[in-house]
Amino acid sequence: MLNFDFYNPTKILFGKDRIADLSKEIPSDTRVLILYGGGSIKSNGILDEVHSALAGRTVKEFSGIEPNPSFETLMQAVELVRNEKIDFLLAVGGGSVIDGTKFIAAATNFEGDPWQIMEKRGGNIKSALPFGTVLTLPATGSEMNSGAVVTRKSLKAKVPFSSRLIFPRFSILDPSKTFTLPIRQIGNGVVDAFAHVMEQYMTYSINSPVQDRISEGLLQTLIEQGPKALIHPEDYEVRANIMWCATLALNGLIGSGVPHDWSTHMVGHELTALYGLDHAQTLAIIMPNMLRVRKDAKRAKLLQYAKRVWRLSDADDDHCIEGAIEKTQLFFEAMGVKTRLSDYGLGAKNIDLVLKQLQDHRLTFLGERRDVTTEVIRRVLELSV
Ligand code: NZQ
Ligand code: ZN
Repeated sequence: MLNFDFYNPTKILFGKDRIADLSKEIPSDTRVLILYGGGSIKSNGILDEVHSALAGRTVKEFSGIEPNPSFETLMQAVELVRNEKIDFLLAVGGGSVIDGTKFIAAATNFEGDPWQIMEKRGGNIKSALPFGTVLTLPATGSEMNSGAVVTRKSLKAKVPFSSRLIFPRFSILDPSKTFTLPIRQIGNGVVDAFAHVMEQYMTYSINSPVQDRISEGLLQTLIEQGPKALIHPEDYEVRANIMWCATLALNGLIGSGVPHDWSTHMVGHELTALYGLDHAQTLAIIMPNMLRVRKDAKRAKLLQYAKRVWRLSDADDDHCIEGAIEKTQLFFEAMGVKTRLSDYGLGAKNIDLVLKQLQDHRLTFLGERRDVTTEVIRRVLELSV
């Protein structure tokens, strides 16, 4: 196992009716800013519930944080936070609202142009406002991690950053608040969480059976529970299991002490920045063929995955591996997330621009062994047409 530091200070408040606990988690003398997206929390009553829980405090709102939150929008919130002397942020939404709030928390006190935070991937953050979250979409794990992804529309750049100063103080996870999710977002969430586990598990073996078996348990739970959420959207137990899976998939636990890949995510970010695809749609397109193209480098782990996660037992190793990749792709499709570029109106004509973006962003040696070059990614994209 590799050396590691494990640090995760986020308190999780899980279960029904937990929004009421906001009053205990946020000091009564703070000026609070509620941040949210396009309005789903207004129509489903979550915003009213949050206001009731915060009664007695000075509370302002900032709405309109879009999916794949933009630097341009977030800087408007930074101005509001500074003008209103806000001292606590509360993100109410999915990964985009939470990621946006992390950026705002770090940018408010930042000296200089806050885009430098993105240029240095968060390494120059010296302080951040405290914030909590109310999660409404299980997917990204942002509710219990120290990473975020921000898009600068004018540059068509979607950039991740992280800092130990941007962990949420707390996150409220009430599975019943996910009942109103559209089918597309249920599927996106399950696929994203699945991909997070894979990016930390599907590398090479270094004798880490605990991380492996937790990862395999998360993958099997997503495979088992995901389709049920599509059929029975108001099944609390199903939603609860998916929600906890998505959080554990990217809170640092399974990634401690093991190599990471993340090449599917990095290519996916470019597809979103260029063509506006949902984050999970990009992962569903790229991951199956990333595994096919790199199957020799990942051979031992792919066989383990085939046997333990999909219970395949073909005597021929190559058949076994292809069977597991095929099942992975079919699972994404079964969750309603299409797996080909052509499903989204894209094709061979778009590949050069994706590769150019990766080069411009210096993302040319990706993967657990830094051998995923633009040529490897070209093959992946060509297979994905
Ligand atoms: O904006 P509103 O009206 O709230 O609607 C949202 C949005 O349109 C809707 N929604 C959320 N909760 C709902 C709901 N609709 C009805 N009922 C509810 N309970 O869902 C839509 C998508 O929301 P969004 O927050 O964009 O989705 P997601 O949670 O998938 O977040 C995606 C973002 O997270 C980043 C992605 O790159 C992308 O920008 N990621 C962040 C990570 C992290 N911080 O660790 C890791 C991930 O790999 C990912 O990159
Ligand atoms: Zn993701």
